[in-house]
Amino acid sequence: MRILVTGGTGYIGSHTCVQLIEKGWQPVIIDSLVNSKISVLDRIHQITGTRPAFIEGDVRDAGLLQKVLTEHAIEAVIHFAGLKAVGESVSMPLKYYDNNVHGSLVLMKAMKQCHVKTLVFSSSATVYGDSSEPPWSEHVPTSPTNPYGQSKLMVDQIMADASISDTAWSMTSLRYFNPVGAHPSGLIGEDPQGIPNNLMPFLAQVAVGRREALQVFGNDYPTPDGTGVRDYIHVTDLASGHIAALSYAHGRSGHHVFNLGSGQGISVLQMQRAFSKACGRDLPFVLSPRRAGDVAAYWADPQRAQSTLNWQAKKSIDDMCQDTWRWQSQNPSGYP
Ligand code: NAD
Ligand code: UFG
Repeated sequence: MRILVTGGTGYIGSHTCVQLIEKGWQPVIIDSLVNSKISVLDRIHQITGTRPAFIEGDVRDAGLLQKVLTEHAIEAVIHFAGLKAVGESVSMPLKYYDNNVHGSLVLMKAMKQCHVKTLVFSSSATVYGDSSEPPWSEHVPTSPTNPYGQSKLMVDQIMADASISDTAWSMTSLRYFNPVGAHPSGLIGEDPQGIPNNLMPFLAQVAVGRREALQVFGNDYPTPDGTGVRDYIHVTDLASGHIAALSYAHGRSGHHVFNLGSGQGISVLQMQRAFSKACGRDLPFVLSPRRAGDVAAYWADPQRAQSTLNWQAKKSIDDMCQDTWRWQSQNPSGYP
């Protein structure tokens, strides 16, 4: 299958491209490089022996999309391209709606024009409201608390409406929980620009000496050790979830929604200990006030993906930390 991968040089996209190639499928990447580096392509080549086709460009460029869909005889699209910083989305909502919602609309219209009707989209657990007790299934009410989450939910809704209007569409929303880890080769991984917003890359930068200490945001939550609890999923498990979803959905009409998570909740301090073990030194941390907008605890009910896609997350917290550490220690400043 020839698959257009938008945002394919990004963190999750690059790991998914590796698995697409390993499956014998042909990824064609379009990425504006707004949050990734071109050298990712060399790394994918090193891992797989194949350098995927790459087009530098923006998904909001309708003409370019139509050209790529046609010239590469694309059969399905995995749509990763988007902006993802929750805090930035609060201060720059228009930028986020334009990139994430408008970008997805331009893509879907180009797909329609070119008769490409299979789309797998990067949605997020952040679309769920925090009023429900975990675990969160796909039935949990949605009510995102920031423009980033709203933009994901809007695209999910557009996909649902489009698939009702035309049964030729196969639309799949994958709601990721917290993706972490890196390819076991240490050649590709997460490479945030500036100060990392997220726990795992922050811990990795403390481990490699780029940051002094982890700030633990809140230790008075109603959780076993008082720190926030999340469902971390290894990025290679997440990538295999895309392969499973695409295999299932291609040619199957409708809007399909799946949670991709491990089903297990891990606290900030548990992660700090696991990472300390992986890198062989006790990583310093300071207890700090809660971060605005954070939820105490949630994790996935991944049952639907298990029973329908025959997919489940396999890797442990130790795997996540060891692989992140291998990536970070081999690439202390990220990609060249
Ligand atoms: P990432 O930033 O590493 O990758 C996104 C890629 O999209 C980048 O390479 C960036 O350059 C590109 N891009 C952004 N806007 C573009 C545009 N308009 N046109 C073309 N390319 C564009 O992020 P990631 O962690 O790999 O996330 C991939 C997707 O998954 C995103 O849509 C994100 O919102 C979603 N998601 C991520 C997480 C997470 O915690 N990482 C959780 C849930 C959902
Ligand atoms: N945390 C710290 N210190 C840090 C960073 C994070 O204590 O420096 C804590 C947070 O308070 C939270 C946990 O670690 O309890 C996880 O925080 P992350 O920032 O790593 O992840 P979030 O759960 O806040 O959100 C992430 C992505 C969202 C995505 C969501 C999906 O940032 O885009 O996962 O569940 F939607």
